Amino acid sequence: PTEVMEERVREIKADFGERLFIPGHHYQKDEVIQFADATGDSLQLAQVAAKNKAAKFIVFCGVHFMAETADILTPDEQTVVLPDRRAGCSMADMADIHQTERAWDVFQEAFGNTILPLTYVNSTAAIKAFCGEHGGATVTSSNAKAMLQWAFTQKERILFLPDQHLGRNTAVELGISLEEMVVWDPIKHAFEGEADPEKVKVILWKGHCSVHEKFTVANIEYLRKKDPEYHIIVHPECSYEVVQAADHAGSTKSIIETLEAAPKGSKWAVGTEMNLVNRLQKTMTDKEIISLNPMMCPCLTMNRIDLPHLVWSLEQLVVGEPTNIIKVDEHTANLALLALERMLQRA
Ligand code: 13P
Ligand code: SF4
Repeated sequence: PTEVMEERVREIKADFGERLFIPGHHYQKDEVIQFADATGDSLQLAQVAAKNKAAKFIVFCGVHFMAETADILTPDEQTVVLPDRRAGCSMADMADIHQTERAWDVFQEAFGNTILPLTYVNSTAAIKAFCGEHGGATVTSSNAKAMLQWAFTQKERILFLPDQHLGRNTAVELGISLEEMVVWDPIKHAFEGEADPEKVKVILWKGHCSVHEKFTVANIEYLRKKDPEYHIIVHPECSYEVVQAADHAGSTKSIIETLEAAPKGSKWAVGTEMNLVNRLQKTMTDKEIISLNPMMCPCLTMNRIDLPHLVWSLEQLVVGEPTNIIKVDEHTANLALLALERMLQRA
């Protein structure tokens, strides 16, 4: 029963004290997030992982790339565990390191040594290492603009992995036109359209988030007609067209802060993952908050971390058999750390 599992988490947390640290991403279920020692967006969780020196065990309530990032940012003595190893991220899986290395050769041929790779943290450790090795950095949705600005002080052109939407939306914010961007399709191993060196400033990797692609311009048009009082706020993993049609766009942290600061009685339609939208609805009862897409849009992999998996994962620590340890090999971790540190120094 739920109460028994909840009680067990409380007992284990009390027994372990500072030796156990549970970070939780905003997209986690309430049944899990209630036990998080820190909650946040991807940037905040990377920052707390880097700072926490006391915990022997970090039980990461989020997805695989976040646990990898925590492992890279913490010393070997700290063990990072993911309560369910199947909690991956389909977007991170859209950029494979072998595809990227092959593509890089094509880019060098087309544009010479003029490209700096940036990767959204929603990527594998190997992709972060690739960026670290080539002078590039990681970005999150809260610092993508500042990081892209920095990147252009280093090189003439940017390769943005793996989310074409965050890349496009951020480049547009910096005044780069759509004509100055080209999409690279890793499946076809080809550019979509012409890669004219006279024009191209940003190469967008053709990846996307399967949750955020479900928010559409049709959702926005429908709602604006039905009730024009709704303000529309979306995550920048949504498409360019959706971000342009919305009133605001921002990371999960920025969505929460915007709604917190909004006037009482205001109406908000939110284009991001379901667990966060549900939590906003429950906690900000002085506002009317709905999901921009009535289908709600859950992230199925985030949802794999549930209370039973959390309890099981903690019990494994109790019996001295931590399971689902996330450990990045040393060579990859060292290079990925370069990319993460270039971001954290500027974040
Ligand atoms: P942020 O929390 O950084 O906005 O990222 C959203 C996300 O998709 C995490 O997987
Ligand atoms: Fe990945 Fe999208 Fe889920 Fe975030 S919401 S973990 S980007 S699939």
